[in-house]
Amino acid sequence: MYMRMYDLIEKKKRNEELTEKEISWLVEGYTKGDIPDYQMAAWLMAVYFNGCSDDEMTFLTMAMAHSGDMLDLSGIEGITADKHSTGGVGDKTTLIVAPIAAACGLKVAKMSGRGLGHTGGTIDKLESIPGFKTTLDKDTFIEGVNKNGLCVIGQSGNITPADKKIYALRDTTATVDSIGLIASSIMSKKLAAGSECIVLDVKTGSGAFMKEHNQAVELAKKMVAIGKGAGRKCCALITDMDIPLGNAIGNALEVKEALKVLKGEGPDDLRQICIRLSAAMLEISGVAKSEQDAMDMATKALESGKAFEKFREMVEYQGGDLSVIDNPDNFKKAVYCKEVKSDVEGYVTRIKTNDCGTASMILGAGREKKEDTIDMSAGIVLCKKNGDYVHKGDVIALMYTDNNNSFETAGRILKNAYEFGNNPVDTAPLIMDVIL
Ligand code: URA
Repeated sequence: MYMRMYDLIEKKKRNEELTEKEISWLVEGYTKGDIPDYQMAAWLMAVYFNGCSDDEMTFLTMAMAHSGDMLDLSGIEGITADKHSTGGVGDKTTLIVAPIAAACGLKVAKMSGRGLGHTGGTIDKLESIPGFKTTLDKDTFIEGVNKNGLCVIGQSGNITPADKKIYALRDTTATVDSIGLIASSIMSKKLAAGSECIVLDVKTGSGAFMKEHNQAVELAKKMVAIGKGAGRKCCALITDMDIPLGNAIGNALEVKEALKVLKGEGPDDLRQICIRLSAAMLEISGVAKSEQDAMDMATKALESGKAFEKFREMVEYQGGDLSVIDNPDNFKKAVYCKEVKSDVEGYVTRIKTNDCGTASMILGAGREKKEDTIDMSAGIVLCKKNGDYVHKGDVIALMYTDNNNSFETAGRILKNAYEFGNNPVDTAPLIMDVIL
C-alpha cells in the first residue's frame, strides 16, 4: 500500500488512530533514513499533544523492538528474569536484586544502561570494579548466565536501533515526557532483551522521571499491559524517589554500599526495596508459591550470604578484581574529601533528590553530555536523612572528588538540597503500589 509520512502526520494531528501497518511503516522508514527528522518530529509532537491509544502504543513498541536484534535467550536453561528501573539517585538495586534472584534459581541475563544527567547507570557502577568487562559476545554472555545465574552487560550495538534514533530526536524536540512514548521506548528494549519475566521499578518523586505519583501509576499500567500483551510475565512496583536511595551516590561509592547490603549490613531502605523487587521476580516467575514465600526466599538469599556469592561469581566471570569485592577499602579512593556542615538546626524534613544527583554529577560522578567521562571514585555520602536531628555544625554529607574545584558549587547545591523543620515529618512509604 502506498503511504506518505505527510498523511500520517495529518492523521495524528486530527487525533485519528494509526493502524499497525502505518506505524511499522513509519518506524522502519525513519530508522532507514527514508523519513527525515522534521517529519518524524512533527508526528511525535502530534502524539505528544493527542496521546496514543493502547493499540498504537503496542504497535510502536513492537515495531521498535523488532527494528534490530531480538536477543535469543533459548540457550539459557531455566526461567529468565529481568528488572528495570526508570532511574533515580543512588539507585544501585540491580547490583543486589540480580544476585538475590540468581541465588534463588532465576536466570538473570541483563542488559543495562549508562547514567546521564542526575541519574546513574548500572554499567558505569560495575565498571568502577577494576577489570570488570561490560561488553561480552553473545555466547560468553549466555554461558555466564548458565554458569552463575547472572550476567550484566551494556546494551549491544543493534538492539532497538529505532528507539535509539527516535529517543535522540525526542530529546531535542521536547517530546520525551509523553507517557505513551516513554512506555513504548522502555518496553521495546525490555522485549528485545528477551527475558520471560520482567519486573519494573517505576520511581516517583523529586529525583524521578515521573515526579507525580499518578503519572508513575499510569506509566506502570501501560508498561505492564504492553509486557503482558507480548506474552511476558510482568508487574511493576511504584517506589519512592523523593529521597535518594541508601546513602551513597556515585559509582564506586554505590558498589561499596551494595556490597554492604549483600554482606548483611547497609541501609535499611535499600535492603527493603531490593528484597521486594527480587520477591516480585520470584513471584511472577512462579519460583515462589506466594508473596510471603517470595519475601522469605529473597531474605534468606541475602542472610545466608548466597546472594553475595552470586555477585562475587559474576565479578570473577566478567574479569573484575575480586580483591575490591572482598575488601572494599581496596577501591581507588578519591583524591579529595570534604564535609558539608549544616548552618541550621532541626529535623531533616526533605532532601531535594534531583539536586543531590546534580551535585554528584558536578563532583565528577555523572555525565552532563553522553560523551563526558566519569570519575569512578567521585560522589556523595549522605550522613543525615529525613527524620534525623541535626545540630549547627553537624556533618550532613561527605563529598568525594579528584577535582578540587568542584567542591564549592556541589557543596552549595547539596546544602540547599536539605530542608529542616522543628518536627520530624512522616516519610512516604518506600513501596507505594504494586501493578499486576
Ligand atoms: N527511558 C527510556 O528508555 N525511554 C524513554 O522514553 C524515557 C526514559
